[in-house]
Amino acid sequence: MIILGIESSCDDTSAAIVKDCILLSNVIASQKVHEAYGGVVPELASRAHQQNIVPVVSEAIRQAGIDKSEIDAIAFTRGPGLPGSLHVGTSFSKGLALALNIPLVDVNHLHGHVLAHFIKEDENTPVPDFPFLCLLISGGNSQIIKVNSPNDMEIMGQTIDDAAGEAFDKCAKVMGLPYPGGPFIDKLAQEGNPNRFKFAKPHIEGYNYSFSGLKTSFLYTLRDEFKLNPNFIEENKADLAASLQKTIIDTLMDKFGKAIKATGIKTIAIGGGVSANSGVRAAVKQYCDRRGIRAFIPKRTFTTDNAAMIAVAGYFKFLNGETCDITAPPFARVVI
Ligand code: KG4
Repeated sequence: MIILGIESSCDDTSAAIVKDCILLSNVIASQKVHEAYGGVVPELASRAHQQNIVPVVSEAIRQAGIDKSEIDAIAFTRGPGLPGSLHVGTSFSKGLALALNIPLVDVNHLHGHVLAHFIKEDENTPVPDFPFLCLLISGGNSQIIKVNSPNDMEIMGQTIDDAAGEAFDKCAKVMGLPYPGGPFIDKLAQEGNPNRFKFAKPHIEGYNYSFSGLKTSFLYTLRDEFKLNPNFIEENKADLAASLQKTIIDTLMDKFGKAIKATGIKTIAIGGGVSANSGVRAAVKQYCDRRGIRAFIPKRTFTTDNAAMIAVAGYFKFLNGETCDITAPPFARVVI
């Protein structure tokens, strides 16, 4: 079965073709226009999606070496995401599905991140067995998900305020680093002392996360030190980055470890933009190696937004007989 996936939930326009989970192409056009603003500007994102979507989809079909008449269904990100951006991908998908007279499958962007582990290079690519536990960490979400099957996921815990990626990006912003700051913190942290500064860690029940206290405590440290030394950030940026990253990783692993122990599940996965972080990847690997747990750590290309994961998630829904109506509107927040 050949599925065209289309992703436009935030600031990446992407199209991919999969044949029964085997990746034939994955084209991503990132939007540089937001860099000057220190964050994604929704209206500019929608306009860039409109400019990119036709060339990106054409290129994905070309690189896959197929003809558009061979596509069996179109899977598109219906939400969550930026409303204007989602509208571009949703409307385009509907138009193309009508023109080709093929079914449409709506995909929850977060399910896409989880199912990114089923994108195969060939028949021999290993994939997680069910059930597995997934730590989904991105710019907008931090969740621990019990994945019973491709179409059955239970959220065990999630952030009650900021997401892990937001903690990286907002703290990076006060340090004067470019947006998104996560990758810059990652790089700086490699040179720094992770035990130099202590920042607030949350104390919440269950498997939920919170990162807003960390953000405040990071900001207060910078403010207090800045009063004594205006060059404080510049002189200590590597230690600040390493200490911040360590606090985020400890917080993530604390609850994830608790969920792994409580469920007794021996296969785990991580996904979402923050799973590209080298410290997170090393911590997860070390945790699992010590306990004989099988860890799926995605290739960096599949950690951030991409249509390959949407195509694969759509493939599983389509197999399950789930398609969506041509009138289905995008959802900014509601999870489908
Ligand atoms: O999954 P994603 O592309 O977008 C959402 O759907 O939210 O994730 C983007 C997030 C940003 O917060 C970015 O700073 C973070 O992932 N990120 C990283 C790294 N690479 C991307 N955070 C820490 N270390 C990285 N290497």
